[in-house]
Amino acid sequence: MARRPIMAANWKMNKTLREAEDYTAALIPRAEQAEGVDVAVFVPFTVLNEVARMSAGTPVIAGAQNFYYEDSGAYTGEVSAPMLQDVGARAVLIGHSERREIFSESDDLVAKKTKRALDAGLLPVVCCGETKEERDSGGFWEKIKTQISSVMDALEGDVDGEKIVFAYEPIWAIGTGDTASPEDAQDAIGKIRDLLRELRGDAFADSVRILYGGSVKPENIEEIMAQPDVDGGLVGGASLDVESFGKLVEAAT
Ligand code: G3P
Repeated sequence: MARRPIMAANWKMNKTLREAEDYTAALIPRAEQAEGVDVAVFVPFTVLNEVARMSAGTPVIAGAQNFYYEDSGAYTGEVSAPMLQDVGARAVLIGHSERREIFSESDDLVAKKTKRALDAGLLPVVCCGETKEERDSGGFWEKIKTQISSVMDALEGDVDGEKIVFAYEPIWAIGTGDTASPEDAQDAIGKIRDLLRELRGDAFADSVRILYGGSVKPENIEEIMAQPDVDGGLVGGASLDVESFGKLVEAAT
């Protein structure tokens, strides 16, 4: 089954409103020229409304980088799924390693957020990945398997594979320039797809998209995208410059 590739930018805690406007205005024509690729930008909440307003009706999908799974209440500093939709978000990153490591997000919290995002009609991009120690000790797959299974166990009933995306981001490759080899990326993502097939069957496993993230650059995207189970990239540093991210989008066509 042909899966529509996604090239996704994660701006993390970067970009003023003016920078976000200039970037989005420059990205839209690049996305419009990129046949058959979904283009997503995951942006700080402060610029989300403007990016969503500018990209409405274009191939660019505006996304948030986090949210809380309750819809209202005493959760100081948090925002809910309805609030994200109120400002135009169509997708949301969940369980990024920086949320898990810095803000102590558990597998259970990631699972609850994923369920809520799906129920709200947002496209969840659920992140997983191992540390250098887990990779070097050979325990990386147990870590990833636990992260993925925790999410899938929380999703009741049938789930449409096209309505959820996973991103494999080895923590040791994030922001380091130490990109996983195409073979390691394929090995991990192939294992994730096999696990999803075991848990949810062929239709789900063949339609769900799984991205690679971790020092993706225009220089290495071709060989990463050439891997049979890789459906795109989730890009941090190289996405902050719209010219560089435009090249990554074009490479996914
Ligand atoms: O979510 C994407 C990010 O974690 C990857 O960052 O800078 O290694 O592309 P970077």
